[in-house]
Amino acid sequence: MIKSCVIGWPISHSRSPLIHGYWLKKFGIEGSYERIPVEPEKLPAFLHSLADNGFAGCNVTLPHKEQAFRLVTPADEPTERLGAVNTVFVKDGKVLGTNTDGEGFINSLRAGAPALGIRNSRVIVLGAGGAAVAITNALLLNGAGEVVVANRSIDKAENLRKRFGNRVKPLEWTKRNDQLSECELLVNTTSLGMKGQEDLQIDLTMLAPKAVVTDIVYVPLRTKLLAAAAARGNPVVEGLGMLLHQAVRGFELWFGVRPAVTIELHDLIARDIDPGYKT
Ligand SMILES: NC(=O)c1ccc[n+]([C@@H]2O[C@H](COP(=O)([O-])OP(=O)(O)OC[C@H]3O[C@@H](n4cnc5c(N)ncnc54)[C@H](OP(=O)(O)O)[C@@H]3O)[C@@H](O)[C@H]2O)c1
Repeated sequence: MIKSCVIGWPISHSRSPLIHGYWLKKFGIEGSYERIPVEPEKLPAFLHSLADNGFAGCNVTLPHKEQAFRLVTPADEPTERLGAVNTVFVKDGKVLGTNTDGEGFINSLRAGAPALGIRNSRVIVLGAGGAAVAITNALLLNGAGEVVVANRSIDKAENLRKRFGNRVKPLEWTKRNDQLSECELLVNTTSLGMKGQEDLQIDLTMLAPKAVVTDIVYVPLRTKLLAAAAARGNPVVEGLGMLLHQAVRGFELWFGVRPAVTIELHDLIARDIDPGYKT
């Protein structure tokens, strides 16, 4: 029996057990994936005893991603650059950590907007929080020409430039509408537009008709930003794709099979988010 889990504080909202549970059943693997609430002060002890408690690894979510990075051995160079892990695995008795948020974002974009060329593209990222760090890093690794980062706290956008170099262009939050005409990809990484949060205020008038718009918020499945972009004919990619694609490598690391993100899986999770969802 191979065991994995997702840890966070709180953790009751996580849909990861549904995703991994679907794949375990599909492949007939004798394994489990549970939700475990872990208080921040108990994180060191939890990760330290992961293998002794029979876990092949775990996913790590808010607020533990940075603290977990400091407690495990980074498995690869991109994770070292990020300073945050979302996937932990045990290998040869060692607890290693990696980050799959960036590849989840890119693979979701490739699946949802195959015509978009990231290389040399001009991207506007709204937000500079944890998810924006992983996404900006992934866009740059995939050759984006320029990543404009608009954030309410401009110092965080500045930090991204210091960290990743001059292809990152910090932008005052109040100026977020001004550079849309040149943009080929617009990404919302803020929590604005999420159920229970304020709406994202943005005027898409200047956005080119071919520009791709994506939102990593996935509750609701189609945010007001995406609805407004789709209504004017822009290609849109919903945030659920990132959640599904970021789960692939963790499953492979723990259970030894690389799973696929299928329409069936998408619809299962979409219905959990919105019981009225129809394909
Ligand atoms: N689809 C996926 O797989 C996936 C993965 C990760 C995260 N997410 C979603 O992405 C969102 C962000 O996650 P995160 O981990 O990056 O969170 P975070 O680190 O807390 O960052 C939140 C971001 O939102 C901005 N923000 C919050 N309230 C704002 C307001 N009233 N006006 C302007 N900006 C505001 C923050 O700006 P300041 O810096 O100025 O505070 C910051 O840039 C969440 O909704 C999360 O659920 C989705």
